[in-house]
Amino acid sequence: MDRLPGFRDFYPEPLPHPDVWSADARQYIFNKWRSMAQRYGFREYDGPPLEPLELFTTKSGEEIVGQLYNFIDKGQREIALRPEMTPTLARMVAAHERNYKKPIKWFALPQLFRYERQQKGRLREHFQFNADIFGETDVAADAELVALLIDTLRSFGLTAKDFIIRLSSRNAWQDFFNQRCSDESKAYEFYQIIDKLEREQPAVSQDKLAKLGFSFDEITAFINAGQPTAELDLILKNLAARGLSDFVKVDYQVIRGLAYYTGVVFEAFDQQGEFRAIAGGGRYDNLVKLISGGKVNLPALGFGLGDVVLLELLKARGLLPKFDAALDAFCLIEDESLRGESLKLITDLRTAGLAIDYSLTPAKPDKQFKRAQEIKAARTIKIERNASGELTARIKDLRTREENVLPLTEAAELLAKGAR
Ligand code: HAM
Repeated sequence: MDRLPGFRDFYPEPLPHPDVWSADARQYIFNKWRSMAQRYGFREYDGPPLEPLELFTTKSGEEIVGQLYNFIDKGQREIALRPEMTPTLARMVAAHERNYKKPIKWFALPQLFRYERQQKGRLREHFQFNADIFGETDVAADAELVALLIDTLRSFGLTAKDFIIRLSSRNAWQDFFNQRCSDESKAYEFYQIIDKLEREQPAVSQDKLAKLGFSFDEITAFINAGQPTAELDLILKNLAARGLSDFVKVDYQVIRGLAYYTGVVFEAFDQQGEFRAIAGGGRYDNLVKLISGGKVNLPALGFGLGDVVLLELLKARGLLPKFDAALDAFCLIEDESLRGESLKLITDLRTAGLAIDYSLTPAKPDKQFKRAQEIKAARTIKIERNASGELTARIKDLRTREENVLPLTEAAELLAKGAR
């Protein structure tokens, strides 16, 4: 039986087939995401993967609603698998924000589901690093988030030659819109056309814009001028102070597809333009109010960084490390009469925090040694009985081939010193 299209199987490396994904690489990415979020003082939260359909139909905008995985459950409730984290987060924050000091800085690593047309960089399931701030109107918060995004991407070895954050502003576009059109009900459609400008045939966009009463040339001129608004200017200065100017530019082609954004918005792209967006985010100052039915009003901003494009980019730039079982040692049991003592040693070593494996059933010594090499264990460890009948541990470093024989009690200490 095959898996569903657009879903992934994650296998430990070495991968058995080009069509499967690396569970090791996924863990590597999650660790980096978590570690950088923590360095920036963000706390981890999580929510349910299933939500009432309504949470998304009124909040995210038509595009995402068209991609929902939804169904009616056995209690006749209309349910959706979460296509994004932001509405869930807004609901959670609205419910209990009083218990937290502001600004609230939270992150999550959710798996999300969108019934999208499958293409490079877009699947029907993906993971996102979400980082969001609540309760801060100052652009210092926008700059902090952009810096977090930059530092996260840098932690994988990516440089300013590899990616760029394109900063834009819904406010700038809103002003542009208001100066030319007084019918606010057309704004979302207008934003959608701008959002797709780069991916759509120019003639198609031109036609759609003309129908709404906008001139394609005026829009191109506005984008090309790229005049930063006062708030974008402050963000650029803030990032320059951190030495991060090379990673950002103002680009009004970015407007964001989701309906709830209100102010500064941004997207991360690879510099060569080979891949789809790596990350996207911005301000959504009205969403908490909308979701809480007017009860709570908190400014908010955040971003989502997907694992699919990031992995494609890291692979293309040769930035993924080689993964193996990461074992500190493989315990060889060559003398079956010492299996009991070996199990005790293995338990002690594992209790000391070391990663140890061994052959579950009796096996020839050369077979055990071969297995230790295949899974790239750092060392082998073997219990031996010396001439006076005492038990000792023989530890062999599989890289340097250096061997040490020492009392059993010292084995854990020696291994811990060189633990990976
Ligand atoms: P988004 O732009 O829809 O924003 O998604 C963010 C990132 O998730 C994209 O840049 C892309 O890397 C990845 N992504 C999205 N859809 C797919 C897909 N079908 N397959 C693979 N990767 C995908 C949001 O979701 C917002 N909720 C982010 C946010 C958080 N805004 C404020 N806070």
